[in-house]
Amino acid sequence: MDINSESIVKAEGLSIGYETDEGILWAVKEVSFEVPKTSVFCIVGESGSGKTTLGNAISGLLPPYVLTQGYLVVDNIVVINNDKNNLKAARGIAVRIPQNPSSALNPYLKVRALFEDVMKSKAKNVSKAEVREAIVKYLSIMQLDEEVLELYPYQLSGGMAQRVAIALALAAKPRIIVADEPTSNLDAYLRSSVGSLLKRLIEFGITVIVITHDIVFASHVCNYIVVMYGGRVVEVGKVEEVLSQPLHPYTMLLIEAATLKKVFTNSMRVSAIEGVGESGCVYKSKCPYRVNTCQAVPLLKYVSKTHGVACWRAVT
Ligand SMILES: Nc1ncnc2c1ncn2[C@@H]1O[C@H](COP(=O)(O)OP(=O)(O)OP(=O)(O)O)[C@@H](O)[C@H]1O
Ligand SMILES: [Mg+2]
Repeated sequence: MDINSESIVKAEGLSIGYETDEGILWAVKEVSFEVPKTSVFCIVGESGSGKTTLGNAISGLLPPYVLTQGYLVVDNIVVINNDKNNLKAARGIAVRIPQNPSSALNPYLKVRALFEDVMKSKAKNVSKAEVREAIVKYLSIMQLDEEVLELYPYQLSGGMAQRVAIALALAAKPRIIVADEPTSNLDAYLRSSVGSLLKRLIEFGITVIVITHDIVFASHVCNYIVVMYGGRVVEVGKVEEVLSQPLHPYTMLLIEAATLKKVFTNSMRVSAIEGVGESGCVYKSKCPYRVNTCQAVPLLKYVSKTHGVACWRAVT
């Protein structure tokens, strides 16, 4: 599969499923997109739309029993090739900051020991002085005081835990950082400061993939956005194209809901337990604009070099 030299991640027809008692649950269905190098790329969608599954695939952290189809290339390494995968190869190239860092960090280790662990796992012969120098550098990038080194994860506030987690991710020297819902427990001020810090990472040559259900946050931090619904990519593009000229009815609804502060309810969720090629558009039962053609799955079509939409109505 060709990969544009400007891209660091490429997914093509990528599907990811979990075996459940009710059958295969395809959490991600036939998604295709490219992540440009040193960009901030947001994956946006409601709960259950497959964002974490996709982020875990990019960071090589899917469980071993996962089912895959299509392709995923991370930093020129083919990580998923239909039903074969080499997820381990993505680990370290892409590092994931988990959805809830304060509970995901080892509770028995102080922040200093967490850093030492990460750095020693990357380079065995690293000296104490080098570790110290690097820790100070990563703390300063994340605007954290050195006192944080003597704290245990449970002693960190939500904003601090998020910044410690980003600093720890940096210490692993990845090319990609995947931040899963980095602002879910933060107030508006901390959301904005974590957003600014994530944006700064591109100065260090890192590509940042941000997973969020918050399109407003996405609009502040990212250059590119992919909108997911029911495991499918419904729209993708530069953030200014997607937000100023949304083409998919779900993207339009997200933008309108953000403006009106409408709260999404569980009734918006769709069942993911269907074949990968289930009949019709994934959004058809909710879509106010559906037409007969929506009984067939719309392919992602590009209306500009970067702006793609999977909607019959938008492309005909
Ligand atoms: N390990 C797993 N085994 C079985 N099903 C899973 C597993 N992980 C996720 N799922 C299911 O896959 C679907 C997508 O989940 P995923 O966590 O990727 O969504 P999400 O968009 O990140 O949601 P949220 O916003 O709630 O974090 C959901 O229906 C979820 O229940
Ligand atoms: Mg998630």
